Amino acid sequence: MQITDKYAFHGELSVPGDKSISHRSIMFGAISKGTTMVTNFLQGADCLSTISCFQKLGISIENQNSHIVIHGKGLHGLTAPSKILNVGNSGTTTRLISGILAGQHFESTLDGDDSIRKRPMKRIFTPLTQMGAEFSSWNPSSFPASLQTTDSGCAPFTVRGGKLHGIHYNSPVASAQVKSAVLLAGLYAEDITSITEPVLSRNHTELMLSGFGAEVTSDGTTASIKPEPKLEGQNIHVPGDISSAAYFIALGLLTPHSELLIKNVGINPTRSGIITAVHAMGGNLSLINERTVSGEPVADILVKSSSMHGTVIDGEMIPTLIDEIPILAVMAAFAEGTTTIKDAQELKVKESDRIAVITENLSAMGASVTPSDDGMTIKGGRQLHGAQIHTHQDHRIAMAFTIAGLNASGETTLDDKKCAAISYPSFFEDILSLAD
Ligand code: S3P
Repeated sequence: MQITDKYAFHGELSVPGDKSISHRSIMFGAISKGTTMVTNFLQGADCLSTISCFQKLGISIENQNSHIVIHGKGLHGLTAPSKILNVGNSGTTTRLISGILAGQHFESTLDGDDSIRKRPMKRIFTPLTQMGAEFSSWNPSSFPASLQTTDSGCAPFTVRGGKLHGIHYNSPVASAQVKSAVLLAGLYAEDITSITEPVLSRNHTELMLSGFGAEVTSDGTTASIKPEPKLEGQNIHVPGDISSAAYFIALGLLTPHSELLIKNVGINPTRSGIITAVHAMGGNLSLINERTVSGEPVADILVKSSSMHGTVIDGEMIPTLIDEIPILAVMAAFAEGTTTIKDAQELKVKESDRIAVITENLSAMGASVTPSDDGMTIKGGRQLHGAQIHTHQDHRIAMAFTIAGLNASGETTLDDKKCAAISYPSFFEDILSLAD
C-alpha cells in the first residue's frame, strides 16, 4: 500500500470496540452462569481467537457481528478440549486463558503464530505454578508430531490444572495480563489470592469481574480476589478502543488543517496516558460528553491540528500508554525538540521488539532516534520522507507508520497491511473516509 501526504482529515468516526475489554467479555461470560450479551465487540483477529478457544472448551458462542451471545456454563462448566487451543497472535488470549485453565481438572495445550511462540510466558507460569498448576513448554520445531520439552518458557505449552491454593504474588512486571491470569486462577483457589505490581496496570479485569459478581478488591497496586464466587451473565457494551483512537488522535494533530471527532472512546485512567502525553506535547485535544458505560469511563475526543513539542514519557505513565508508544514515537518525530521515553523495557516483548522496530522505521524515514534498553530518545522537527516500512507483522507498527507516511514527503509503503486486522480490521477504510 502506498501512503502520501496530500490530504487533510475532517469529520467524525467511531473506532472499533476495545480489545482488552472484548477479550474479557468472552472469557468472563464463558465462566458465568447464563447468557452474556456483548455489543460493539471487536471483530479483530485476536478477539476471534479468544472466541474459538472457548468454543473448543465447550462453550456455545454466537457471533452475530452486531452482537455476541455467550451461553456461559459457570465456573466449573468448561470441558477438556479435543484439539490444540490456537491463540493466533494474541498474548492476551494466551495469558488470561491460562489463568482459567490452571483451575480446570483437565489438561490443555496452547499454540499460536511465530510471534506468540517467542513471547515470554514464564511470567505467568511462575505464579500459576506456585498456586498448583503445571506447565510444560514444547520444542516448536518438532511440535505437534513429537513432544520434546524445552525450558523456553514459551508456546507451544501444556497446562495441567487442578486444585489451586491462594498466594500473594509480588509481580516483577507491571502487566495486566499477568495480574489477570493470577486473579482468574484465584477464582478456583482454596483461599484469597492477591497480586502486587510495581506500577498499576490496566484494571479492566477487576472492574468487569466485579460486575459479573466476583469479590475483587484493589488497594493501590494490589488486587485481591475471593474464590468460588457466583458469576452471572451480563450485558456488556464495549467502549471504543483508545489504543485504536490513538492513530486518529495523531492523524488529527499532525496533519495541517485537520479536525477529527472520535466518538465513544474508553478513557479509563489506567489506559489513557496518551491524553496526558499529548497535552504535555502541546496537542489540542479535548474530551467531550464524559460518561460511564458498562462500568468504564467513556468520552468523545476532539483533536485539531497542532504544533507539538517534545516531552518525557516514563515511570508510572508507561503502563497507561504502553500500546500507544509506536504512535507517540511518530508524533515525537514530527514535534519540535526532544522526546525521551524511559522505563518501557516491556516494548521489547510485544508483538515485535518495538524499541528496535520503531527505531528501524523512523530512521528509514529520516528521523533522529537513539534506542536504549528501556526506550528511546527522539530528536524531532526534521522533515520526514517516505520509506519502505518493515512492519514485522506487528499491527501497531503498521498503523503508526501509516500515520507517519501520511505526514511525510513522498511515498511510504508497508510490507504488510493485513496485520492491522489484528486489532482494527477497517483501519484503512476509516482513514480514507476522513480524507478531504
Ligand atoms: C493487555 C495488557 C497489556 C497490553 C496488551 C493488552 C490486556 O499487556 O500491552 O495489548 O488486555 O491485559 P501487558 O499486560 O503484557 O502489559
